Order: sequence, then structure tokens, then C-alpha cells
Amino acid sequence: MSPDRYLDLLAKSLLGELYLENEFRLLYLRECVREAEAFDPALYLDIHGHPRWRAFQDLHAVGRFLDDRVENLGFPYTMIGRKRLDHLRWCVETAVGSAVPGDLMECGVWRGGAAIFMRGYLEAHGIADRDVWLADSFRGLPPPAWPQDEGLDMSAAVYPMLAVSIETVRENFRRHDLLDERVHFLEGWFRDTLPMAPIEKLAILRIDADLYESTATALRHLYPKLSPGGFLIVDDYQCIEPCQRAVDDFRGEEGIDEPMESIDWTAIYWRKSQS
Ligand SMILES: C[S@@+](CC[C@H](N)C(=O)[O-])C[C@H]1O[C@@H](n2cnc3c(N)ncnc32)[C@H](O)[C@@H]1O
Repeated sequence: MSPDRYLDLLAKSLLGELYLENEFRLLYLRECVREAEAFDPALYLDIHGHPRWRAFQDLHAVGRFLDDRVENLGFPYTMIGRKRLDHLRWCVETAVGSAVPGDLMECGVWRGGAAIFMRGYLEAHGIADRDVWLADSFRGLPPPAWPQDEGLDMSAAVYPMLAVSIETVRENFRRHDLLDERVHFLEGWFRDTLPMAPIEKLAILRIDADLYESTATALRHLYPKLSPGGFLIVDDYQCIEPCQRAVDDFRGEEGIDEPMESIDWTAIYWRKSQS
């Protein structure tokens, strides 16, 4: 199979596109259990006839959930949606194609899908001199501790869906035949793991951790390790204000003036300049 064809299929698996009807069937069944909808066996089989199927499909494609409720997120391996995953693929392709030195990293991995994709990219192209790094608590977001995050409690007590154990993430890599010694897990709060992380250089730094504290900590300790020509991606810039402020503050303090580009309704990126 060609690398592109393998990566197309891997992306579909990670995004949950292969069994999308079953995702929606689960939501439908949940509503039936809650007695918010009546169970209709014919509709269950041919779920495309459900009045909300089309909306679900359209929202899923852009990494959003029905009614913007996290509990409607379902069970993909990554929540970033098609556009951001395709863009990540382009970033990796461009960095590798222009020989930007360094490993590939995600801070805030949830079920691991975006990182699995990066490991799959290396595998598909027989690239043996780059590793993949994952930083996460593997128990959800920290409760807000910094003043900039006041009132933004997304910890496991509030959003249990965002807490995914390291065993589950390892298993998700294993299922895709991509778990090996080139996948490194930094388990714990960023404030504890990132300052001492044994990472030399990065070609891709993907930050997807919502809070000001998490975003600022990842930028502070890892941006200096991003090689010139490497890509910095921030998933939540356009939808979570404290995340946006963390990025703006960092750019201001460090005098970063590379233009920031929008990826979709939430994510942004820039490419570190060569000079
Ligand atoms: C929105 S999810 C990430 C989604 C993921 N990138 C994907 O592809 O689906 C946010 C993740 O960030 C992690 N996280 C946020 N702040 C953190 C921190 N300060 N330390 C460790 N993990 C953190 C959470 O545990 C959670 O797994």
C-alpha cells in the first residue's frame, strides 16, 4: 500500500469516520435510555433517517459536537476533526520535506489520536531518526490555579471525558500497531514534566491543553526547542480566551512576529522563521 493510502485510512480510523453511524447510534440509544427519544428499531438500523444525523455528520467533520456539549463528543481517537488532522499532516510533510531537524510532539493528547497519526506518518515513510513525544497528566486538566484561568474549571471532576489514562492511550497506539520505543510518554502536570523533559529538538510542537497555565507552560519550556522552520500549532486559540491570552502574552514577551495563520474555527499555527 502506498504511504498516502495508508495515512488516509489511518486518519479515518483516528477520526472515527469508519464507524460514524455507530457513534450516532450510541448517542441515539443514550437519548432513548434517558427517555428523551422513543426507540424505533427501523431508525436504529437506518440511522441516516434520524433528523439530527446530518447535523451530527457536519459537526463531526469540523471537530465539533452536537449542541457544543462535550458529552456528545463520542469515541474517536482524536477530537481535532478532519481539517486540523489534514493540516497536521501537511505540517509534518512540510517539516520532513524541508529537513527541519527534530521530533514531533503533542502537549495535551487525550486519547492520543493526533500523536498516533504523527507516529504513523513516520512509519509510513520509513523515517527512523525522529521520535514522537506525548505530554499529558493522563487524568485530565488541572483545576484552575493561575489567576488567568479563574473560573475555567475543566478538571476531571467537571469533565470526566477529558481524563484518559496512560494505559488507554498506550492501547490506542498498540491497536494501530504503532506502539514502540520511539513513542515517549511524559506523564504528569506540564509544570512538573516539561521543565526537565529530555527533548533536544522539535520539528512539530502541537499544544492542545485549553488553559492559560498549560499553554504558557508548554510554550515557555518547549518553544525554544522548536527548530527554525518547525511548526507551532495551538488548538484552542480561537475558542478559549485564556489560551489565546497565553499565546499573545508569549509572543509579546519573546518578540515573536511570525504571522499567525488560522487553521479552522479554533486552531492557529505559525512557522518558526529560519533567522
Ligand atoms: C482537549 S484535550 C486534547 C485533545 C487531543 N489533542 C486530541 O487530539 O484529541 C486536552 C488534554 O490536555 C491535558 N492537559 C491540559 N492541561 C494539562 C496540564 N497542565 N498538564 C498535563 N496535562 C494537561 C488533558 O489531560 C487532556 O488530555
